[in-house]
Amino acid sequence: MNYLRIIGGRALQGELEIQGAKNSVLPILAATLLNRGQSVLHRCPRLQDVDASIRILRRLGCSAEWEGDTLCVHTGAMACGEIPDAMMREMRSSVIFLGAILARCGHAVLSYPGGCELGPRPIDLHLAALRAMGVEIEEKGGYLHCCAQKLRGCEIMLSIPSVGATENVILAACGAEGATVLCNAAREPEIVDLQNFLNACGADVRGAGSSTIVVQGGRPLHDCEHTIIADRIVAATYLSAAAAAGGDVLLRRVDYRHLSTVTAALKEAGCTVRSHTDWVQLRSDGCLRAIRPVRTAPYPGFPTDAQAVLMAALLKAKGTTVFIENIFENRYRHVDELTRLGAGIRTEGRVAVVCGVGKLHGARVQATDLRGGAALAVAALTAEGESRVSELQHIDRGYADLAGDLACLGADIVRVDEMEKN
Ligand code: UD1
Repeated sequence: MNYLRIIGGRALQGELEIQGAKNSVLPILAATLLNRGQSVLHRCPRLQDVDASIRILRRLGCSAEWEGDTLCVHTGAMACGEIPDAMMREMRSSVIFLGAILARCGHAVLSYPGGCELGPRPIDLHLAALRAMGVEIEEKGGYLHCCAQKLRGCEIMLSIPSVGATENVILAACGAEGATVLCNAAREPEIVDLQNFLNACGADVRGAGSSTIVVQGGRPLHDCEHTIIADRIVAATYLSAAAAAGGDVLLRRVDYRHLSTVTAALKEAGCTVRSHTDWVQLRSDGCLRAIRPVRTAPYPGFPTDAQAVLMAALLKAKGTTVFIENIFENRYRHVDELTRLGAGIRTEGRVAVVCGVGKLHGARVQATDLRGGAALAVAALTAEGESRVSELQHIDRGYADLAGDLACLGADIVRVDEMEKN
C-alpha cells in the first residue's frame, strides 16, 4: 500500500514554484488534435490524468514525448476517432476529446466519461450544444456514435456555465463553418488558457474569461508552442496548509488574481497575504478564526475544488464556519475522514458546519477523491502525532508531488511506496 506519513505540528517556511494546471493541460491536450502537427507544451505537470490523456492520444494514432516538463505532441498521424470505454472511464476530462475529434474528422465513437466520485456528472449540455452544431448522436451499447457531415457555427446558450461543455463547444467550433457564439460560458482561467493555446495555433477564439465567447471556425491551424498556466487549486492547497500549520510561504509563478476568493477567505481567517503579478506570500501564526459562510460558485466565485482544503485549514479555527457546496452534490466525502482526525463537522445535503476544535490527533485516513485527499494531508499537518493518508491514486490525479512540495516547505511528510516497504 502507498501512503503519506505525516507528523503534524511543524510550521511551513520557504518558497515553491507551482506546477502547471491540470484543468488547463487536459483540454489543451485534446486541442492538440486540431493543428494536425506539433504542439510543444511547456510546464506540463506529470499527473495520472495527463498520462491518461496521453494514452488516449496514442490510441488515436498520435505521439507524445516528454522532455523534462515539456510535452511534445504530434497529431499529424491521427488515424481513428474511437476511444475505448476503459480509457473514457479513467477520468472525467476524456469527454473533452469529443469536441476535438469532431472538429478534426467529423465522427467520434466514445462512451460516457468516468470521474464521477463527486456525484452525478451528466454531459447533457455538451451533447445538446454539439447537436445544435449539426452533430448526430446515437447511443448504442453504451457508446455514443457521433457524426457530423459538416459542423455549423451557431448561437448556443448554456443553462449552467459548465467548464467542460464550454471547452467542448470551443473545440468543435474551431472546426465549424462560420461563427459560433457561446452565451453563459464558463469564465475559468483555464478556458482563457485554452483560448490562448488555440489562437497560438492560428484559431480565432475571443471572449474567454467573459460570459460570451465567439469562435470563427474553419481557420487553418499550425504548429505551436505554449506554456501552461499555474494550477490555482494546487496553490490554494499550499496556502491553506500554511494558514493552518502556521509559517511564512511564498508561491511563485502563480497568478494571484486567480486566487482572490481563496486569499480573501484566508485573510478573513487571520492570515496576512501579499501578492504581486506572479507570486503570493502568506503568513500565519496558525491561530485562525472562523469566517463567514463559504459558498462555492462558478469562477470568479469560490472554487468548489478549493472547498475541501479550506475546510481542512479551518478545523481548529476559533468559532463555526459554514460551507455551502453549490456545484457538486457529493462533495463532502472527505468529512468522515477528517472526523477521524478529531474534526467537528456536521453535514446536511449541500451544507457542512465546521465547529473549530482545540486540537486534532493523528490517524489513519483514506483519500476519497482528489481534493478531499489533499485536504486530509492539510489537516494532518496540524494534528498531533502521526497520520497516514492512503488511497493516493486520487491525489496523484492532480498533484505532481504533494509530499515533495510540502516537505520542501518544511513539513514532516514522506511518501511511502509499496516497493520501499518490501
Ligand atoms: C471542471 C473541472 C473540475 C471542477 C468543475 C467545476 C476540469 C478537468 N474539471 O469539471 O475540477 O470541479 O469544473 O468548477 O476542468 N453539468 C450538467 N450537465 C453537463 C455538464 C455539467 O448538469 O452537461 C453540471 C455538473 O453536474 C455540475 C455543474 O454543471 O453540477 C458544473 O460542472 P462542470 O463545470 O461541467 O464541471 P466539469 O467540467 O466536469
